Amino acid sequence: MSVAEIFQTMDYGPAPESAAPAQEWLATHTEEFGHFIGGAWTVAASHFPSTNPANGNVLAQIGQGTDTDIAAAVAAASAALAGWKAQGGAQRARFLYALARQVQKHARLFAVLETLDNGKPIRETRDIDIPLVIRHFYHHAGWATLLETEYPGYEAVGVCGQIIPWNFPLLMLAWKIAPALAAGNTVVLKPAEFTPLTALAFAEICHEAGLPAGVVNIVCGDGETGAALAAHGDVDKIAFTGSTEVGRLIRAASAGSGKKLSLELGGKSPFIVYEDADLDAAVEGVVDAIWFNQGQVCCAGSRLLVQEGIAERFAAKLKRRMATLRLGDPLDKSIDIGPVVAPVQLQRIRDLVQQGVAEGGTLFQADCPLPEKGNYFPPSLFTGVEPASTVMAVEIFGPVAALMTFRTPDEAVQLANHTRYGLAATVWSENINLALDTAARLKAGVVWVNATNLFDAAAGFGGYRESGFGREGGREGMFEYLAADWLKQLPDLAAGDAVKLAVAPSETIAAGDGIDRTAKLFIGGKQVRPDSGYSYAVLNHKGASIGQAGLGNRKDIRNAVEAAVKASAWASATAHNRAQVLYFIAENLSARTDEFAGRLRAMGQTPASAKAETAMAIERIFFYAAQADKYDGRVHATRTRHVTLAMNEPFGVIGVVCPDQAPLLGLISLVMPAIAMGNRVVAVPSPRQPLAATDFYQVLETSDLPSGVINLVTGDRDELTKTLAEHDEVACLWYHGDAAGCAAAERASAGNLKSTWTNNGKAFDWRNSAQGQGVEYLRRATQIKNIWIPYGE
Ligand code: NAI
Ligand code: MG
Repeated sequence: MSVAEIFQTMDYGPAPESAAPAQEWLATHTEEFGHFIGGAWTVAASHFPSTNPANGNVLAQIGQGTDTDIAAAVAAASAALAGWKAQGGAQRARFLYALARQVQKHARLFAVLETLDNGKPIRETRDIDIPLVIRHFYHHAGWATLLETEYPGYEAVGVCGQIIPWNFPLLMLAWKIAPALAAGNTVVLKPAEFTPLTALAFAEICHEAGLPAGVVNIVCGDGETGAALAAHGDVDKIAFTGSTEVGRLIRAASAGSGKKLSLELGGKSPFIVYEDADLDAAVEGVVDAIWFNQGQVCCAGSRLLVQEGIAERFAAKLKRRMATLRLGDPLDKSIDIGPVVAPVQLQRIRDLVQQGVAEGGTLFQADCPLPEKGNYFPPSLFTGVEPASTVMAVEIFGPVAALMTFRTPDEAVQLANHTRYGLAATVWSENINLALDTAARLKAGVVWVNATNLFDAAAGFGGYRESGFGREGGREGMFEYLAADWLKQLPDLAAGDAVKLAVAPSETIAAGDGIDRTAKLFIGGKQVRPDSGYSYAVLNHKGASIGQAGLGNRKDIRNAVEAAVKASAWASATAHNRAQVLYFIAENLSARTDEFAGRLRAMGQTPASAKAETAMAIERIFFYAAQADKYDGRVHATRTRHVTLAMNEPFGVIGVVCPDQAPLLGLISLVMPAIAMGNRVVAVPSPRQPLAATDFYQVLETSDLPSGVINLVTGDRDELTKTLAEHDEVACLWYHGDAAGCAAAERASAGNLKSTWTNNGKAFDWRNSAQGQGVEYLRRATQIKNIWIPYGE
């Protein structure tokens, strides 16, 4: 080929990276691994192979972890916990620095090993995965140093069971292990069965870095091993990344266990291109969005939403670009796309693509030659699809994008949010107003403006809705590995406090004077009769009837949720306006102090106690009124020339099931932080003592609170909770009740993967302001959205 010809084609030959360092390392282990437990290697009872997706060759035999292995690893982590915590943040920071440096030192080995085991191009492991891993350990070394000053009143959760997927094996390990260790936890981590090798190499690094035995344990195996880890009774926290399906199983299985849980699940992320976007940049964006890591990325921009006027031009540019993608041996440094991780994943992609074609979608595939061996799938683009098409709705986890058009920004947002997921989103526009307005309206935990798939240890990552809950990375991610001291020290509810209310329904009977004195429900700003037409007698401490409360049912809950959904303007009201309404509520309650105290006395409280509870309730409303415009977000320090905005956004509708222990104060303590942050609430007051709550709606009626922001449905706690927990429009559930009720609430919340906060069968002391009030409540009432905005020419 002449030089002139080379300039014409700009073709270049293969530039293979040597597999030697990884092969040598595998040879030192005679290509066979046990588990890393208590600082030493075990001999596994049985093995399964890990293969190279580029050619099907077996790389090594991996131990299949059994219940006994899990038990041994959890025991080692438990034994190491006290000592690791006692080392203190400064000392733990040294270990995290040492881990970062060791990974840096062995960066080439890690990059090659990851490529061999997973199939992702060496360009990605070398330039993205491993550098991010190193950055993550350095960043979290810093959090260890700062723990005592930045998180006062918080401590390590305990033993963490961590289960990770195969798409970013070492990076997911870093995301899990670095914050856990920084906070003083110990861990048992289970890598994915397709890609265990870098985790095993990391185990060696822990040894080299002198990490105390048992602080990090690695047990390999499949889903059964993962399930055993998640189910182990001495695990205090589960962190899972993987499919939504398994996330849901783990949510249901761990219900009532008291384990802290974070789930980072699937996605079907929108990628919006407005007509004023820099189209060439946006095309490169698509390459990074869906052909990065063969599309096996939970936040992959797989739904391309392109404004109508430019759609044809954009699709043409995109197809031209697809033709230049190079697919082949992932160890070749000039390769863009490698094989997918396993034959089963390849088959899954093929099936979904076939379904897309069968449903009438138009499939375009880049005309790149596929290697004969290996799990290769060509970069693919669907057009002619609809929102309900399989390829637009289902996470394919392969190099397949689907393109639809839209006309207006409203339509773009509507289409973008038309999904059960909410992990990430991308917006391309040269108009900053439009881009930021769109970013604010997207239901996703991460939004990239004029860029895509940007990650940094200083920014949180995690989903809305069925993409899971909790964040990884940054200040917000640390909370997943910390627990407030007071929460850890709560006593169990006394037996007497957990008696189930025996509700004896009776027909609403008018009193002798013909006037119905049954307290009503409060839905959509109106006092309404319960759908059932029934009420129940409310008894005081001596068993005497002090009134009737409405017996709400599932229909009432549904109506209340509908009213709460409609009240969405509350979320976009200014924080100042919300604060003013809360101040007004406080003042109006204040004016009726004697009446409320009287109600509490009638329920059996002493005059002093009744007065104290009412006074604290008022104080607490003032606290959240004050916080409404102060609990705000941050700008994270991530990359150069980037503003990464961490916004505290409301969940939407929160279900609040109130405790019996403080009938007025409990309700106020839960409802006020929720609405201060812009949520709307459907609250179930204490079934035993509902009358303070039903009196309270008279206060609400005179306080300028928009209708539907607070809804009150009295009745049987567990029955109403079930409807709330199963309702798809309820994004978050706070539950107070007995241990069995907590378990049921968490289990029923698995459906749409609600974020839940229960009392775990413990007794909160509502009158102690360190427990019943605080920023912890605001944190639980919000989810953080990270918006990445580049600047500079
Ligand atoms: P998966 O969710 O089954 O696997 C993820 C991890 O969970 C692995 O370590 C696995 O061993 C473990 N696991 C499996 N069943 C478990 C159980 N019952 N209890 C505890 N741990 C369990 O995902 P899989 O089967 O590898 O992939 C299937 C689909 O899931 C993919 O096609 C993709 O759509 C999605 N996925 C999403 C990921 C994400 O990051 N969002 C990552 C991996 C897969
Ligand atoms: Mg493999």
